[in-house]
Amino acid sequence: MNGSLVIENIDEIVTPTGNCGVSGNAMQTLKQFAHHSVIVEDGKIVAITKDASEINAYKSKGYPTLSGEGKTMTPGYVDSHTHLIFGGYRPEEFDMRLKGVAYMEIMKKGGGIANTVKMTQAATLEHLIAAGAARLSKMLSMGTTTVEAKSGYGLTLETEIKQLKALKALKRISPVSLVSTFLGAHAVPENQNASDFVAYLNDSVLPVVKQEALAEFVDIFCEDHVFGIEDSKVHLKAAKSLGFKLKMHADEIVPLGGAELAAEMGAVSADHLLHISDKGIQSLAKGGVVATLLPATAFTLREQYAPARKLIDSGCIVALATDFNPGSCFTYSIPLIIALATLQMKMTIEEVITALTLNAAAALNRADTIGSVEVGKQADLLLHDFPSYKFIPYHVGINTVAHTIKNGIVYTNNNISRAVFC
Ligand code: NIG
Ligand code: FE
Repeated sequence: MNGSLVIENIDEIVTPTGNCGVSGNAMQTLKQFAHHSVIVEDGKIVAITKDASEINAYKSKGYPTLSGEGKTMTPGYVDSHTHLIFGGYRPEEFDMRLKGVAYMEIMKKGGGIANTVKMTQAATLEHLIAAGAARLSKMLSMGTTTVEAKSGYGLTLETEIKQLKALKALKRISPVSLVSTFLGAHAVPENQNASDFVAYLNDSVLPVVKQEALAEFVDIFCEDHVFGIEDSKVHLKAAKSLGFKLKMHADEIVPLGGAELAAEMGAVSADHLLHISDKGIQSLAKGGVVATLLPATAFTLREQYAPARKLIDSGCIVALATDFNPGSCFTYSIPLIIALATLQMKMTIEEVITALTLNAAAALNRADTIGSVEVGKQADLLLHDFPSYKFIPYHVGINTVAHTIKNGIVYTNNNISRAVFC
């Protein structure tokens, strides 16, 4: 009976609906249920009901009961863009940025991603797994039930594979579901040029990642002074021909045309988009490419936010994610993302819930199995401590999740007890 339970008499259930990403104004529409119970069997939602005899029938099967009184249920959060696995830390760079040095300046001087690459090359597989597991359990406590994680701190076959193997091990041991992305094209190694490095990745690394089934997606940092449009196209074409699904870091620092390329290549998502052009916005809307916005990165780099309103009002499918990484954005806090998206990017809480659940699932090609509270979907659910979803953004930067339910297994938060000294 593992993964079966009755969540009884929930004050309010709010959820987007459907099996694909929701675009434009429709992001505003959430389905609501008052005082319903949710029945979970073998990790899946089998009923959302008010019918006492139906509820009692499941209870009499011996399913455990969790009270939903005074609580709000939403789907579990899907963090669809992270750099979860890396060695070492870069607090000195954060301090330099506080003193006014720009992120790209630090990178040009040999710091930034290259710094983490050295520390990741030096880290053992065991260390990467342990650090990843610790981060995932904290993410789960803030309501994250699925995490996308990228390689990209190796830049050599050996270390890229080590990062992806750490993710493979974490899939077995962490309750959080993981989706692996190969981001070998994250930075150009010292003394190499971008085109030669792309050729190396295409010829010597991508085929191994494919053969060992270590990643589902391929991503690239398409940016001025990193991988330009032409190199990005060559890499993404090679990845697509091997059967990988595509993602892009696009138009983060300058409007290079990354969003347009994402649409042209049929990418599942284009991410960052701080400097997306109007033409780029039209391309994403037309191509059904999920626009994944990462407000905590703009916040930490003190940059302008991506034009969330314009993207939604132009009919795009917008998702939100943390971009957790050791450099530009050291946070996996969904409460922080909610605060920035509502207060700074002017998204409504209804749009934010859609962006963090169903649309984020769509950014991972999983909207048919996760991302909403609907019969047939995986029971990845959150019970928030208050009786209405309006309490979620009102708690600025505060975790409202009392119980994270993953595949029907309940993880209870806020269980801080006073230390006993003897
Ligand atoms: O998504 N933009 C490129 N990559 C990461 C930053 C990685 C780092 O600084 O270590 C990002 O922000
Ligand atoms: Fe990123």
